[in-house]
Amino acid sequence: MTKKEYLEFSKKHNFKISGKNLKSDVEYLIVINAKKNFNLKTSIDDIKFVLNILKINYAKDKEKSVLLKLLNEYKVDNEINIDALKDVKNLKKQKNEELEKIISVRDLRVSFRDLKSKKRIIEVIRGVSFDIYRGKITGFIGESGSGKSVTAKSLFGMNVNAITEAKTLNISGIDMVNKNENNFKIASKNKNWREIRGKKIAYIPQNPMTSLNPTMRVVEQILEVMNVSSLYENYSRSKKIDEIVELLENFGLENSRVKIKSFPHEFSGGMRQRIVVAMAVISRPDVIIADEPTTALDPTIQASVLSLFKSIATEYNIGIIFVSHDISVISTLCDFVNVFYAGRIVEKAPKYELFTNSKHPYTWALLSSMPESNDGKMELYTLDGSPPNFSNLPPGDPFSVRNKYAMEIDFKEEPPLFKVLDSDNHYAATWLLHSESPKVQRPIQVEKIAESVRKDFNDAGK
Ligand SMILES: Nc1ncnc2c1ncn2[C@@H]1O[C@H](COP(=O)(O)OP(=O)(O)OP(=O)(O)O)[C@@H](O)[C@H]1O
Ligand SMILES: [Mg+2]
Repeated sequence: MTKKEYLEFSKKHNFKISGKNLKSDVEYLIVINAKKNFNLKTSIDDIKFVLNILKINYAKDKEKSVLLKLLNEYKVDNEINIDALKDVKNLKKQKNEELEKIISVRDLRVSFRDLKSKKRIIEVIRGVSFDIYRGKITGFIGESGSGKSVTAKSLFGMNVNAITEAKTLNISGIDMVNKNENNFKIASKNKNWREIRGKKIAYIPQNPMTSLNPTMRVVEQILEVMNVSSLYENYSRSKKIDEIVELLENFGLENSRVKIKSFPHEFSGGMRQRIVVAMAVISRPDVIIADEPTTALDPTIQASVLSLFKSIATEYNIGIIFVSHDISVISTLCDFVNVFYAGRIVEKAPKYELFTNSKHPYTWALLSSMPESNDGKMELYTLDGSPPNFSNLPPGDPFSVRNKYAMEIDFKEEPPLFKVLDSDNHYAATWLLHSESPKVQRPIQVEKIAESVRKDFNDAGK
């Protein structure tokens, strides 16, 4: 690629040095090459993109051939690429654990006005803190009513009739906390929400039909999304349609140029969900929130939609929040896990750490519900009772009444989030982690899961 070609290419794609406006990894790879040739600085963002390409290179042959075809089209020398990738691999070693935060939340609290009395306020999110990383999938898990959806919706200001507060609520570099007030309120009318919704954060609800208009052809609905995105400002209608077709074909929707002219009801459930996912991806948001996106699908289709999320995170470098009450789904999909109970995160850790070294008895109950935890002969480790009522929380830890490991203090004082010693990024809100607490054994079912996860991990590394 000559300098002139590079400049034309960068102009065409509205490319700035950070490269954030590029639409695909392939384009990025080309820029990396050009940058290398012209001795421009390679940033950590570049490295991450290229690492994704490395994955593609070693992944399916079909993807590899698409990549090679495109490289050829842009007249990029494959040999140079391989060298560039080697360099980048070395750089990756140095920056191994560097993660790019796109959402940062500290001490988030959400209260609703009581519908009957109008006055009283029920706090349902009671001080939640977490980060979301680019290109990584973070799972929100917990039983019904634990606060997963309310937390997710507070990231784009969509909780109706709610009062939201936080010490930090930073979304793609936009600070949403009103610093003029001492109470850290987040205004629902803050004009920055318009920059965030659909642009920085896309939301995929449980039922795809709720986000598709049954009376409108699919192609028109996707075009509507593209028309409000600055990414496609200079695109003609037919060029936009080319983009849609490419994305949908990439998502496994064959013959999509013809099919997109159909109405939503003409697609199967799995295909409709793919279309909704495509509508989220097309404007290249920083984060996609998928709130139980596969519960309405049958199990065989669920698996293929889940693998689609995995490839979106890596190929498009989008951070994903995946909400689910299925721990098996979380185990196959996520890089990080946040366990919710009664409006708090009671345990959070990178996935491997959570599945091999869990600390909270509620997490133990979740893990014990996985089929692999039991050989049929063991007694089940189950959770008795039901989730607490927010308007009448018991004193101390709301989990204490269901906690087989509860101590006296659990009924008096809610435990803080303890950092797990010798582990990175692992925290759990249980008094069992207090230095003076007696040491307890994890249930055998939980050990069984840990053992099988360790084995899978070691096998994968061979
Ligand atoms: N608009 C609202 N007004 C009042 N209370 C609400 C409102 N939305 C949610 N809540 C309450 O907030 C709590 C948390 O609800 P949330 O929807 O976040 O649960 P969830 O973890 O997503 O559960 P599920 O798995 O069933 O989707 C629940 O007690 C719920 O009743
Ligand atoms: Mg929910």
